Amino acid sequence: MRILICGGAGYIGSHLARELSTQSAYEIIIIDNLSKGHLMSIPNGIIFEKADVRDKKALDRIFFKYKPDAVMNFCGSISVGESVNDPLEYYENNVVGTIYLLQAMIKHNVKYFIFSSSAAIFGNTKEIPITDDTQPEPISPYADTKFSIEKILAWSENAYGLKYVCLRYFNACGAHESGDIGEDHDPETHLIPLILQVALGQRDSISIFGDDYETKDGTCVRDYIHVTDIATAHIKALDYLIRENKSESFNLGSGEGYTVKEVINAAINITGHPIPDIVEARRAGDPAILIAESTRAEQILGWKRKYDTIESIVASAWKYHKTHANGYDN
Ligand SMILES: NC(=O)c1ccc[n+]([C@@H]2O[C@H](COP(=O)([O-])OP(=O)(O)OC[C@H]3O[C@@H](n4cnc5c(N)ncnc54)[C@H](O)[C@@H]3O)[C@@H](O)[C@H]2O)c1
Repeated sequence: MRILICGGAGYIGSHLARELSTQSAYEIIIIDNLSKGHLMSIPNGIIFEKADVRDKKALDRIFFKYKPDAVMNFCGSISVGESVNDPLEYYENNVVGTIYLLQAMIKHNVKYFIFSSSAAIFGNTKEIPITDDTQPEPISPYADTKFSIEKILAWSENAYGLKYVCLRYFNACGAHESGDIGEDHDPETHLIPLILQVALGQRDSISIFGDDYETKDGTCVRDYIHVTDIATAHIKALDYLIRENKSESFNLGSGEGYTVKEVINAAINITGHPIPDIVEARRAGDPAILIAESTRAEQILGWKRKYDTIESIVASAWKYHKTHANGYDN
């Protein structure tokens, strides 16, 4: 089975490539424009094409050359804040890029598509825990690009018969168990790498935005899913598509969640370093609790998390960050 991983030099795509590369049933081709990705995160021996998914000619050449059986799309611009300031860039990169990929798939008769959707599509929903059937209510351009693609996929199945899975990830985190690959975003906005930068002495403190929420310690509760567990869900989603030939959307959450303070305390215990925090004002639009059930992924895909404590997640991230204090070299 030939899998085209788009955005495979990025954080989550590279972990999926690593998991697939250990299984002989799959041949992998990665495309990435390296705008945010890292060549060093790509496993040895994997075919890599530097290409932009908005380049129709490049896509045509790549689909013709490698004849993939399935496409997984991790490409995209990922910052909610940036998307508010430059929505057109976000719609172009995320939505137009995906449309071009789908057009290439249809032209080259590729049937299976797996899409990196996001918890962000649920906005400030009052339904907590979020379920697979919670109605999406995107409140940022980033979230709307994700929900728009989900709708485009539904219409495309209807028109062209392609089959797809949307995986709606909650907060991806952690690193590969080897510590070889991990999270290196620029700018970094995710909580665990920011906390670990304090442990590494690269920042003085971690900001906590609000400690007067109605949660057990007053700080926000979020749902953290290990990147390897997300990768495993992709492999199970591909098996499902081939087995059932049906399209579906799945939440990838844990149903429990941790407060910001609990994540900081886990990092203090694991790193052995002090991690001072500074409490700042609440950020606009931050809900107190965002957690999700993944009943459908568990029951239909047979997905089960391997990393089910915040300590195991932070420990894996620390293994990567302490050996890659400044991220990847390229
Ligand atoms: N990280 C999270 O917590 C999280 C949560 C929910 C959803 N997601 C989604 O998962 C996907 C992967 O996230 P990530 O954290 O690995 O991000 P990332 O930035 O590390 O990876 C994205 C990759 O896509 C590449 N890329 C971007 N635009 C491209 C284009 N036009 N052509 C070719 N390559 C392009 C980048 O160079 C990068 O390597 C994204 O679509 C993101 O929206 C991530």
